Amino acid sequence: MVKICCIGAGYVGGPTMAVIALKCPAIEVAVVDISVSRIAAWNSDQLPIYEPGLEEIVKQCRGKNLFFSTAVEKHVAEADIIFVSVNTPTKTRGLGAGKAADLTYWESAARMIADVSKSNKIVVEKSTVPVKTAEAIEKILTHNSKGIEYQILSNPEFLAEGTAIEDLFKPDRVLIGGRETAGGQKAVQALKEVYANWVPEDRIITTNLWSAELSKLAANAFLAQRISSVNAMSALCEATGADVSQVAHAVGKDSRIGPKFLNASVGFGGSCFQKDILNLVYICECNGLPEVANYWKQVIKVNDYQKNRFVNRVVSSMFNTVSGKKIAILGFAFKKDTGDTRETPAIDVCKGLLGDKAQLSIYDLQVTEEQIQRDLSMNKFDWDHPIHLQPASSIEMKQVSVVCDAYEATKGAHGICILTEWDEFKTLDYKKIYDNMQKPAFVFDGRNVVNVGELRKIGFIVYSIGKPLDSWLKDMPAVA
Ligand code: NAI
Repeated sequence: MVKICCIGAGYVGGPTMAVIALKCPAIEVAVVDISVSRIAAWNSDQLPIYEPGLEEIVKQCRGKNLFFSTAVEKHVAEADIIFVSVNTPTKTRGLGAGKAADLTYWESAARMIADVSKSNKIVVEKSTVPVKTAEAIEKILTHNSKGIEYQILSNPEFLAEGTAIEDLFKPDRVLIGGRETAGGQKAVQALKEVYANWVPEDRIITTNLWSAELSKLAANAFLAQRISSVNAMSALCEATGADVSQVAHAVGKDSRIGPKFLNASVGFGGSCFQKDILNLVYICECNGLPEVANYWKQVIKVNDYQKNRFVNRVVSSMFNTVSGKKIAILGFAFKKDTGDTRETPAIDVCKGLLGDKAQLSIYDLQVTEEQIQRDLSMNKFDWDHPIHLQPASSIEMKQVSVVCDAYEATKGAHGICILTEWDEFKTLDYKKIYDNMQKPAFVFDGRNVVNVGELRKIGFIVYSIGKPLDSWLKDMPAVA
């Protein structure tokens, strides 16, 4: 029986290994982590992450060929294939701070593999890493090899949170990069055989190591760039009276462009886009390519601009101050169908409003109060470290309350900011909400989920990203 061990039981390690276990009954899969609480949660009824369809799979495989454990060394020693899916945060200090990837966790995982291994191993980079990381990992492993052979493969993960299981069941592609030596190609073949249990052969792409590593960074940069492109257009739409949804629809009909990922919003979030682009920028700078670095940097600048612009719209529409005003925040996760808040635009928007002394009442379907308080008091980039290394007790924000339904959040509020596109927010009883709010009552839709016309008929003053402006907002300054 082939044994797989995955180091890192997070948003990637958990779902990917659950699907491998489900699709490959002949493989024993152990997912290990240094976080005791995370492993305990994986072994309980309350999984540590929310992902549609995940719970059923875990329940089906757990204890049969899928195991979650803190016995990291034991499972690594026993495995034939080791996936490394640990955090690769942005460095906060030292060389490359604010841009380069911090490979501390990766390096410590590699050193541990070298320490405990007694048989040949295939080590798979699942985490997103800078190009040429495999070379560094190879050096760590071979200099401590004690005669053991290691093959390093790059197998970046392309799943999207919220649709992770669907994406893993039917991936657009599986990418495997390896050395172009006989040993390297044999390892590529071994990993290919795992995926071939359910992924059609023509969807499994094999490349050299550096192409695989760079493809992941490039794919995320392209995806984020599309969002920043449509968001940049949304600002121009507001200035000219065009409607960004109509523009995106017309543009997306071009088969060379395509319709996906063209929704204007308050900005992109998630653990990867910003981190991976910063990493790409740093690699370009290190390779003497400042023009290329600046080109990609702009994607992040437009994202920051979009978040600032949103906060400015809120404040300027409400008589230039939100001090002491109750603002309902509907949605905190970085997108619907996940409880993940890493780099969610809601953090920046809430911090912006708190800076203007607003009172926030926050409601999200999946995010806990503890998480929200923690996010709002955490320093930039701290979120991307293993949970047990994050600041333990956050300072509770007095201006923030977290409630468990949208009607409570909006009761007595002056304004509503919709920051996540949860389906529920499309079908709320906005008449009831309006009746219970202060007047004039404002809705700032950062995800274009509400029916602007209907809300205006009820009496709301509505701002919806990239849509023709309410007459109330026309004379207000819009610059970020
Ligand atoms: P995560 O933070 O949810 O999980 C990482 C886990 O690794 C944590 O539970 C942590 O405790 C554990 N860990 C860290 N060092 C360890 C060590 N030495 N030994 C054992 N466990 C250790 O992170 P997530 O989101 O799963 O991301 C992991 C990697 O995958 C990152 O490089 C990320 O960029 C990449 N990725 C993430 C995607 C996503 O949607 N979240 C999608 C594609 C790639």
